[in-house]
Amino acid sequence: MNAALRSVVRSANYHGIECVGFYRGYQGIIENDFKPLEMRSVSNILELGGTILKTARSLDFHKTEVRERAYQNLKLQNIDALVVIGGNGSITGASVFSKQFDFPCAGIPASIDNDIYGTDHSIGFQTALQTIVESVDKIRDTARSHNRLFFVEVMGRDNGNLALYSAIASGACFVIIPEKGFEINNLAERLKTGKSMSKSSSVVIVAEGNNYGSSYKIAEDLTEVFDEYESKVTILGHLQRGGSPVVMDRLIASRLGLSAVQALMSENYGNMVGIIKNKTVLIPMQDVVDKQKKINEDLYKLNKIISR
Ligand code: F6P
Repeated sequence: MNAALRSVVRSANYHGIECVGFYRGYQGIIENDFKPLEMRSVSNILELGGTILKTARSLDFHKTEVRERAYQNLKLQNIDALVVIGGNGSITGASVFSKQFDFPCAGIPASIDNDIYGTDHSIGFQTALQTIVESVDKIRDTARSHNRLFFVEVMGRDNGNLALYSAIASGACFVIIPEKGFEINNLAERLKTGKSMSKSSSVVIVAEGNNYGSSYKIAEDLTEVFDEYESKVTILGHLQRGGSPVVMDRLIASRLGLSAVQALMSENYGNMVGIIKNKTVLIPMQDVVDKQKKINEDLYKLNKIISR
């Protein structure tokens, strides 16, 4: 998010537009908690994970009267437009706010889940993927040495992108995602086949939002039907949300920051900026709210074929 913030501020300044940054998302607008952001304010943050403005999920912002207060604060500070950097919740808030007050807004997709409709990329996904794959590579060392089966649970809320992409990139033998059904016996069959081909270890990637249950439940139920590996579980948790952004995320964030400023300058209000097939695009925020991003079926098929 820092890379996006830096690009917004630098792009705005290039066009002679002043910026302020609100702390903790919408909560900062409600509480009038902000600071001016000049060119130098965003120096040396490109390589930093997280956000120098902090972030928060503001339940208050769901209330009409609280959004009214936020609107009054923006007017009080002579703020003409808002760039919102965040996930589905943030974009939804911006869509509601921009319509309620006819206030110029632009959204920038940022979520490690990459579950935001209308864009191939959301900021953070590539960096989280790199963290997951590096972690699985390390786990595989011990799995191989001990002839063990590891279940590695990854984030993604109710979306399987982090699990699917990391399964392919880490060579996992199986992936369990919310978008697809899961039968314990199918996993057992896959493991039996692997064992018969003298696979010494296996890694299964589990999306936290899968419909079967926790990785511990899956490991327990599997052992009932297939106990030739000792099963272990690793929950990667918030490791996936930190670290210096990888190059791809820095490029995505820098491109989207400029696009958001250009959208506002050309009075294309109420849109989220995105990247589709490497081209920057504008998507009405209402579409982002209404539609759900689908899993990439080609990648799901690819994983089934090459993970055997
Ligand atoms: O939406 C991003 C995300 O990291 C999800 O993948 C995860 O389930 C959730 O946020 C965790 O939220 P929190 O940090 O509030 O526990």
